[in-house]
Amino acid sequence: MGFKKKAKKTSVKKTPSKSKLSAKKKEKKEKKKKEKKEKKKKKEQPGETISESSSSDSTSPTGVGDVIAEAVNQTKMTYMLGACKTPPPIPEDFMKRLMACEQPDLFQDGVKLTNEECELLDEHLKKTAVLKKNEFLVNADSTNETNLQRFRVVEKYNEGRFGAVYVTTSEFYTEGEADVTPGQSCMVKACLRMGHATRVRMIREIRMMRTVLAHKDQKRIMPLLCEGRVLGVPFLVMPAMDANLEKTLENVPTLSIPSVLFIAQEMLVAIKSCHKASVVHRDIKPTNFVMGQNLLHWYLADFGEAYSEGKRATISPPDGYTLPYFALDLHLALKDSVVVKKSVDVEMWFYVILRLLKVLPWQKTTVYSEVRDAKIDFWKKMESKCANMPEVVRKLAKHVCDEGTASAGLSKILEEGFLEAQKGRGKFVPDWNPNTAPQLPSPGPQSSERPRPDRSVMQQLR
Ligand SMILES: Nc1ncnc2c1ncn2[C@@H]1O[C@H](COP(=O)(O)OP(=O)(O)OP(=O)(O)O)[C@@H](O)[C@H]1O
Ligand SMILES: [Mg+2]
Repeated sequence: MGFKKKAKKTSVKKTPSKSKLSAKKKEKKEKKKKEKKEKKKKKEQPGETISESSSSDSTSPTGVGDVIAEAVNQTKMTYMLGACKTPPPIPEDFMKRLMACEQPDLFQDGVKLTNEECELLDEHLKKTAVLKKNEFLVNADSTNETNLQRFRVVEKYNEGRFGAVYVTTSEFYTEGEADVTPGQSCMVKACLRMGHATRVRMIREIRMMRTVLAHKDQKRIMPLLCEGRVLGVPFLVMPAMDANLEKTLENVPTLSIPSVLFIAQEMLVAIKSCHKASVVHRDIKPTNFVMGQNLLHWYLADFGEAYSEGKRATISPPDGYTLPYFALDLHLALKDSVVVKKSVDVEMWFYVILRLLKVLPWQKTTVYSEVRDAKIDFWKKMESKCANMPEVVRKLAKHVCDEGTASAGLSKILEEGFLEAQKGRGKFVPDWNPNTAPQLPSPGPQSSERPRPDRSVMQQLR
């Protein structure tokens, strides 16, 4: 009151000068601007917008909107140890496409949802499927009453478009839990959201993985320890591995040519393993290669897109981690089913090599059609596009373009390129793990004058 009176008094007594008036006006304008900004900020936070519109009392979260908002905040706060710190930009309409593929029933009868609505829905669906700390998952194969196995959830480690990977500890127990013996740490891949599409996908993923692993000549494929079900949806158990290649690149952004060629050989060995079993992986990219515990070898994981060669199939919408590596055939498979070909994996593999060498031309583009056109252009003008690249890459490009198979010829080009690049460097030391030299047999006595490249390293990989 006192303040009001005083203010009135001043305004009657003195007529403010022009400059003072404009200063006041400016102040008011600034205030309004600030208020507008605050309002906009609030609107941008989906949680707060929902609680405002769905509940008159914003301090008591009771409406469905509040529950979703809480879910959004909680999910956003979770830090996953295996996840990348700086995710790539999201491609156009990705969330809409993903939801239509994961929850097709929501899009029946011409229902249209905005990207923001899809994001909100996605966060909610993820929240309802997330496994909590200390929850148990039972090994479906352990039926012996005196030696049952289960996996205790420790924490969520990472997630992809469809799956969530958890660190768990294996426990052996007897019926009635009279005797519980803790075992080793394992990774469990469960679904990221519950639903029929996820179930079908997981069933196929496990079947494809088993097919490849059953083949006698397989190497560098993520082992499958066992499987089980949560609410009718399968999960799979794998050994715990280290960082994936994408995350490794965050810490070691520049790789030497020998390191690139070593990884290329590892990836090729894994692809060959799939192809020998007539399985096409169709999701070759840095996030799907994880480093083994020996910090040297790389293993191919995630058979969620894998199909038998020769079948017809569509493909799931690519996110920012996937789009740059999409083979041209997969761009077509976004609309209609196409015949599954082995060359798809080889093309994707080559794009990963370009990425490792930091020469992938379309890496920053997020528009599907632009990425596809850039790839078409690359292959059309392949020779000029590769002119400034190392010779080994030019040879690989030609081989991929002409033959498109994961052949012995490709391995030979890699081996020769590796030896050439290693000349004078002595023993190969991987850039991602400079403290540990590979535990591979020595190539024999070396000249004392000039260090010789480690021939055995690449030969061992074949
Ligand atoms: N056994 C493992 N040890 C360590 N990390 C793993 C393991 N299995 C998977 N991961 C990591 O978890 C991430 C998510 O798993 P995965 O790729 O199987 O999920 P997804 O949803 O099928 O992925 P995408 O988006 O590629 O389709 C992978 O990118 C990988 O880096
Ligand atoms: Mg993956």
